[in-house]
Amino acid sequence: MNIKRTHRGGELNLKHLDSEVGLCGWVDRWRDHGGVVFIDLRDRSGIVQVVFDPTTKLIPDASSLRQEFVIAVKGKIRKRPEGMTNANLPTGDIEVIVHELEVLNRAQQLPFSLHDDSPSAGEVDEQLRLTYRYLELRKPHLQNNLRLRHEFLKSAREFYFENGFWEIETPILYKTTPEGARDYLVPSRVHPGMFYALPQSPQTLKQLCMISGFDRYVQIARCFRDEDLRADRQPEFTQVDVEMSFISEEDVYEVHEGLMKKVFKDVLNKELKTPFERIRYSDAMDFYGSDKPDLRNSLRLVNLTQEGKKSSFQVYKTALEQGAILKGLCFEEKEPLSRSELDALPKKVAPFGARGITWIRIKSPGDWQSPQAKFFDEALKKEIEAKLPYTQGAMLLLICANSTITNNALSALRLDYGERFGYTDKTSDRLAWVTDFPLFEYNEEDKRFYAAHHPFTRPHPDDLDTFMTQEDFKSTASVRACAYDLVWNGFEIGGGSLRIYDPNVQAKMFQKLGISEEEAQRKFGFFLRALQFGTPPHGGIALGVDRIAMLLAGCNAIRDVIAFPKTQKASCLMSEAPSVADPKQLEELFIRTVPPPQKKD
Ligand code: AMO
Repeated sequence: MNIKRTHRGGELNLKHLDSEVGLCGWVDRWRDHGGVVFIDLRDRSGIVQVVFDPTTKLIPDASSLRQEFVIAVKGKIRKRPEGMTNANLPTGDIEVIVHELEVLNRAQQLPFSLHDDSPSAGEVDEQLRLTYRYLELRKPHLQNNLRLRHEFLKSAREFYFENGFWEIETPILYKTTPEGARDYLVPSRVHPGMFYALPQSPQTLKQLCMISGFDRYVQIARCFRDEDLRADRQPEFTQVDVEMSFISEEDVYEVHEGLMKKVFKDVLNKELKTPFERIRYSDAMDFYGSDKPDLRNSLRLVNLTQEGKKSSFQVYKTALEQGAILKGLCFEEKEPLSRSELDALPKKVAPFGARGITWIRIKSPGDWQSPQAKFFDEALKKEIEAKLPYTQGAMLLLICANSTITNNALSALRLDYGERFGYTDKTSDRLAWVTDFPLFEYNEEDKRFYAAHHPFTRPHPDDLDTFMTQEDFKSTASVRACAYDLVWNGFEIGGGSLRIYDPNVQAKMFQKLGISEEEAQRKFGFFLRALQFGTPPHGGIALGVDRIAMLLAGCNAIRDVIAFPKTQKASCLMSEAPSVADPKQLEELFIRTVPPPQKKD
């Protein structure tokens, strides 16, 4: 390469007029206008127009250029002629008149166009795009997403370093770290039949760093979780992982409010108001039916369980006697829902397990239109209306089921109608701490409790006594945790807790989770032992880097901010991972594979 790069093309403007520049990049577009050759030269900073004048001896070479050839040019910046400027391009006032060209490399015809950025272009052939991900990544919006991700991580690192955190790396070849997913296992060649587990998070390791006395730890940590994937989940993802000693929950909140404030300023040039709102988990569930409420949406759910008991609707009566709850979502029907929309409501809530939904159109106080209106007498209507935000031209949607189904279904309807009827202020950013999570979560299928956050989370001090002494279902279910989530516009972007630092409390935790002493010793013996050597009170949080980058970039899926993401089936189409192992490798690992069981239809 003979031409030396002096600038990136996208950075050039009128200030550089008459400068001699050396530029390198890809041929984005190519046009031959009767002997004058125009090239849109692209690099990561953007696009600049370079011009080959017919009088130069470069024309034959310039005419042979094609899309995505890699070139270097030397030239002079000049103002574009009158009427030829491009207001849509940051470099649209200038062009580079070339006097030296070097073709650095040629490119084959691309398998898809890099110029179609419409959403439908995204849908058409995702397989193809992911197979050639390195080409798709040349598209300006993906370049921009990865730039924003980089700027976020840079800003975060600066913040933590300024605040006394040390960056400490922890191992990837490790042992199970329970975060509620399956482990990815790595067989050991040296220890036949034995396996490492990739960390679901560095949870135990960062706690051990506190025991070691590091006081404030941070790591941009890769985590591995074999779980069902969604738009906001990948099997391997990145956390900003943090642990702090000698702290309360407030310290974690304060530090991370400072972090987000700096990130908003650095990356988006926006001022973020602090402190963030705080909502107890129980209130979040009551008001929004979700532990990650989108607070840009002003609609709230209404609990009508007591009122439901007074109605003469047998469906409610039977369900409520069996412990169901009745909740409603009420909004002004700014344009009336059509008959077919009302008929389709049951289908809309069925995926959440709701067997039905009641709609009541409240034309004015007392004037109810609904197939179920007859089950509510005048006094009851009044009582219910007193709890509603709107009683004129309003729609009330009611669900009567167990609390999980009711909340999940109504929370989805809240988001849906909130957006449709203008209750969601999409221009704002709402960050909030959701606090006082329950310590345990009961799983109906397995008929047992699991740790709601993870088994190292400290019980709430007011519930510690119940935790240590009571074993019945109700007591266990009622214990709260010193656990919190950070929620941004309805996305859980972080979660953390204060940790157990008393070995007896930790042992009790494992016991409550049905982990036998033998299993606890086998899996976490090293950790229980470490707790006995002077463990400071500590706690921390992990922020989801992919989710935060997604929100900063304003996109809908985390794969748009991950350079080489995996598909819903956890495969990498580009490299074809996972792939069959070489028989020799398996032999060395003493591993034999068995065919998977035939699927029954
Ligand atoms: P938690 O499991 O809540 O906590 O994870 C913290 C944050 O990581 C992000 N996240 C994910 N992002 C993409 N894909 C996934 N599969 C995925 N799973 C989680 C979320 C989440 O809020 N060790 C604890 C933290 C602690 O207690 O300090 C932990 O990992 O944004």
